[in-house]
Amino acid sequence: MLILGIESSCDDTCASVLDGQRSILSNVRAGQDEFHARYGGIVPEIASRRHTEVLEFVIQEALSVAGVELRDLDAIAVTALRGLSGSLVVGISAAKAMAYSLGLPLVGVHHIEAHLYSPLLTHPDLAFPYICLTVSGGHTLIAILRSEKDYEVLGQSRDDAAGEAFDKVAKLLDLGFPGGPAIQRLAQAGDRKAVLLPRPMLRRGGYEFSFSGLKTAVLQRLRSPTPPTAEDLAASFQEAVVDVLIHRCVTAAEEFSLRQIAIAGGVSANQRLRQQLEDVTGRLGLTFFHLPLELCTDNAAMIAFRGRMLLERGIRHGLGLAPVAYSPLR
Ligand code: KG4
Ligand code: ZN
Repeated sequence: MLILGIESSCDDTCASVLDGQRSILSNVRAGQDEFHARYGGIVPEIASRRHTEVLEFVIQEALSVAGVELRDLDAIAVTALRGLSGSLVVGISAAKAMAYSLGLPLVGVHHIEAHLYSPLLTHPDLAFPYICLTVSGGHTLIAILRSEKDYEVLGQSRDDAAGEAFDKVAKLLDLGFPGGPAIQRLAQAGDRKAVLLPRPMLRRGGYEFSFSGLKTAVLQRLRSPTPPTAEDLAASFQEAVVDVLIHRCVTAAEEFSLRQIAIAGGVSANQRLRQQLEDVTGRLGLTFFHLPLELCTDNAAMIAFRGRMLLERGIRHGLGLAPVAYSPLR
């Protein structure tokens, strides 16, 4: 079965062709960082305009890299839930037009569900049930994946997503956008223990996250009469985020007696997070799964993959498929 996946929920224009179960024939992404960088964050109108300009070419490239023609496709999966409405509608309109003209089944996918199931794409050894921490610029949540149908969200961020905190702190430090990779780079030259920063929500227990206070704490240190170096601040900030994320994962593994922890989303590319999770899970006899970089950030392979699961359950959407900017997970 050849599925074309389309993803345009935020600022990445993506298309991918997935063959059979998990074989990714192409995974094309056109980013927009340079268009948003001067604003220090994503500007929705710019994002949707860029999608309309490049989506056609991104789809053509995905087909060409995969070596397939439009007529070879068996189905189309598109991100329909969670994202910027103006961005989502571009991908959905293209998907509907293609499904209608080619007479193909169409399925709308929830962006976050796609992230949660994405570790299965490259890890045939990962089996249900597993814990997945999904951390990106738009979301931070931890869930237990029990089957293709059944998952439970344990907790989410009450305010900023982890990636959003990286982006905002990078803006305070004048590091440009996106902030995560820039902070990671700067942190390599800093001392992780130099600046004492809070570990938000940890004392409360449970599985919620909160990162807006951490950003405020960084701002206060920056404005103090003796501000730390940017390197020390970046390293200390990164360590605080990593500590919180890892603490939640390990607590969930212990509470629910689960042995597998997976991470997904743009922030899961963070090297310190990966290294620490590798160490901690190794010590505790747990198994840790992460994705190659191109599958951590937003991508259409995960949309095609989740789409296939839904299609196999007989789920189809008609031409009434419309964007849903905010849709809670079950
Ligand atoms: O998943 P993604 O591409 O898009 C969504 O937000 O859905 O994630 C982008 C986010 C940005 O906030 C970016 O700063 C963060 O992921 N990010 C990182 C790293 N690479 C990307 N954060 C920390 N460390 C990184 N290496
Ligand atoms: Zn995402």
